[in-house]
Amino acid sequence: MKNYDNVVIFDHPLIRHKIAILRDERTSMKEFRELVEEITTLMTYESLKDGVQTTEVEVKTPLETCIQTVVSDNSVVIVPILRAGLGMVNGVHVLFPSARVGHIGMYRNEETLTPETYYCKLPSGIEDKLVMVVDPMLATGGSACDAIQLLKDKGCKHIKFMAIIGAPEGVKKLAETHPDVDIYVSTLDRCLNEHGYILPGLGDAGDRLFGTK
Ligand code: PRP
Ligand code: URA
Repeated sequence: MKNYDNVVIFDHPLIRHKIAILRDERTSMKEFRELVEEITTLMTYESLKDGVQTTEVEVKTPLETCIQTVVSDNSVVIVPILRAGLGMVNGVHVLFPSARVGHIGMYRNEETLTPETYYCKLPSGIEDKLVMVVDPMLATGGSACDAIQLLKDKGCKHIKFMAIIGAPEGVKKLAETHPDVDIYVSTLDRCLNEHGYILPGLGDAGDRLFGTK
């Protein structure tokens, strides 16, 4: 796959280790959910190192007073793409506990593989926030592209997208459709199968998170 300036593929041994367990079909729902959260926290640490608002505060140590920067964590809004994106919300909240959450509900039509939007509820004032869209799977890229377009149509200007597993097809489509959006993917897989599933992937992320299979 071509390199895109707006795409970061993580290549960290700790993330690779957790993804190996996540992929394993024997991993329980509880462990799967915990791993999705942990991987998300590791990715958030890196992906929100730029773009987050900080303010200066005065801190009195036992020895003297100094000026320090602190993160304005209410400047971040998390937007999971339902359902599977919900599994990543706590992983961002660990680092940004006051981040508000907007929800975009989408499912892929199994025949056309195109996303259908069934729900959207966003916090007020989201236009000026740093919006972190989360979804564990970036397959054809249709859901991510449409969710981001919806946010842009609502006036959002600062958007980042984070997925745990990406297919080259989806990364290309998202990077080219939204070149102004920073895209973070923890691992790039081989390809999609004829049903639009990522190979080797991990199966259906929503089913594995919520036990719906
Ligand atoms: C999955 C996944 C993404 C989408 C990715 O959701 O969570 O939202 O597919 O596919 P795409 O890149 O080809 O659009 P799904 O439609 O299975 O819904 P669910 O989360 O409710 O299970
Ligand atoms: N959605 C999933 O949950 N898994 C895939 O492999 C592709 C889309």
